[in-house]
Amino acid sequence: MSGTTDETPIIITSANRFGADVADPDFPVDDPMALLGLWLPENEDELRPLMTLSTLGLDGYPDSRHLLLSAFDGEALYFHTSTKSRKVAEIDADPRVGLALVWVEIGRQLTVAGDAVLLTGEEAAIAYRARSRYLQLLAWVSSDEVAALPREERLARWNDFATAHPEVPLEAPETWTGYKVIPRRLTFWRGDAEGPSTRVEYTRTGDGWTVERIAG
Ligand SMILES: Cc1cc2nc3c(=O)[nH]c(=O)nc-3n(C[C@H](O)[C@H](O)[C@H](O)COP(=O)(O)O)c2cc1C
Repeated sequence: MSGTTDETPIIITSANRFGADVADPDFPVDDPMALLGLWLPENEDELRPLMTLSTLGLDGYPDSRHLLLSAFDGEALYFHTSTKSRKVAEIDADPRVGLALVWVEIGRQLTVAGDAVLLTGEEAAIAYRARSRYLQLLAWVSSDEVAALPREERLARWNDFATAHPEVPLEAPETWTGYKVIPRRLTFWRGDAEGPSTRVEYTRTGDGWTVERIAG
């Protein structure tokens, strides 16, 4: 029937699996980046966590969208996108960004304020090779020109490209790029079914972190 959706699932590799926590969350840690490493799943996990990225819009309004967290290396959080995207123009104008991850089932949230730093082409290509075939094709086929076509033509473009490029993995398109976000503030929120939730906020100082337990 026209207007209904078919049952083929769209494969977007994303998940929010929680890693682990410290034994006593009331006890502040010396290194919040190590704590962040505990919360996040391993980089080798194909199901990447989903996070919200907020940028400063060129029109002055905040701009947010969901992205896959490609990796965490102990110092920065990595994401990948298209050079043609709005977020790239916004980060170019102002690299200050916000990130938010949530683990709804266990009541955990992480928010980050930090600076986005552009990756080199080779650094970005590593993450492209690790993406699923679906997401590799998406990076090639997705463009404003294709988006403007009727669905049948969009599917034809997709299928033509996939048939002409059976190689696994594909080479990254020129529009593929990536950033690492270096946190200046990390806020760990823990729900508590028996009482108030708590937030522990770490703010970067010159060579260390200040820590504060705050409401909210
Ligand atoms: C589950 C999911 C995962 C996504 N992952 C990415 C991603 O890793 N990189 C990306 O550029 N867009 C990703 N998107 C699409 C973005 O949310 C967004 O629509 C796109 O990047 C354009 O954003 P912009 O116009 O604000 O720059 C994802 C969307 C969803 C729903």
